[in-house]
Amino acid sequence: MTDAQKLTDEVLRASAATPDPRLRELLAALIRHLHSFAAETGLTHQEWLAGLEFLTAVGRKCDDQRQEFVLLSDVLGLSAQVDHVNAAPGATEPTVLGPFYRPGAPHRPPGAHIGRPEDGATALIRGRVARTGGQPIAGATLDVWQCSANGLYDTQDPDQPPFNLRGVFTTGADGGYQFRTVRPVSYPIPVDGPVGALLRASGRHHWRASHVHAIVAAAGYEPVTTHIFDAANEYLRSDAVFGVRDSLIREFRPVGPGDPDDVSFMVDADFVLAGS
Ligand SMILES: [Fe+2]
Repeated sequence: MTDAQKLTDEVLRASAATPDPRLRELLAALIRHLHSFAAETGLTHQEWLAGLEFLTAVGRKCDDQRQEFVLLSDVLGLSAQVDHVNAAPGATEPTVLGPFYRPGAPHRPPGAHIGRPEDGATALIRGRVARTGGQPIAGATLDVWQCSANGLYDTQDPDQPPFNLRGVFTTGADGGYQFRTVRPVSYPIPVDGPVGALLRASGRHHWRASHVHAIVAAAGYEPVTTHIFDAANEYLRSDAVFGVRDSLIREFRPVGPGDPDDVSFMVDADFVLAGS
């Protein structure tokens, strides 16, 4: 056994008495993988320190509006991997929460517009929330949010009122819901922090496939955090945070001119929840 392996065993033994069994399991796996990472790469002191300084910078970039650690997890595909691990069979596929979720969005009546005319062309999104067996779920909530035509969320843009392009909708007795929003646009993930530097060092672009976010929840069911992606978007195959799932791509169908409600696009999007 090498000195490196002996050290790994010694550290594993030191945490073996962790009372919480799940924490014990997570710590042991983390220790094994961290030690393997150092051994496999021949990690130098300089590189080790650079890594710690990078994580420190990620932490310093965080505040109550900006979550650089979520962004880091997203661009490394860890968020998407956790989604895969936790996907419920038969239910709507989950995808990344992203750094722009804001709890406390206003509850809005069916069909309400969550944005303003200047946020983009109006899209009516409608569908049904059902359980995996197919029965509709009445009283399910859809917490939806997205960016404006300038690619910015309200939390990034002082010209948008608070909770612009955010809202919570509740399904009716038939599990149906509908709301108005705007056709989403691609936007760059924030690259003015250490995660942006990492992307530049990797030669990667920083664009997200255009999407509407949704957290769909109902009492007695596993909530799902997911997206509606626009089938016509150019970044579906190279989303910066690996969030696209084929099952979440929807057509934004143009509506002919003269629609009495000034709707430009119609989108059908059903959601399926698994029992908890
Ligand atoms: Fe987003």
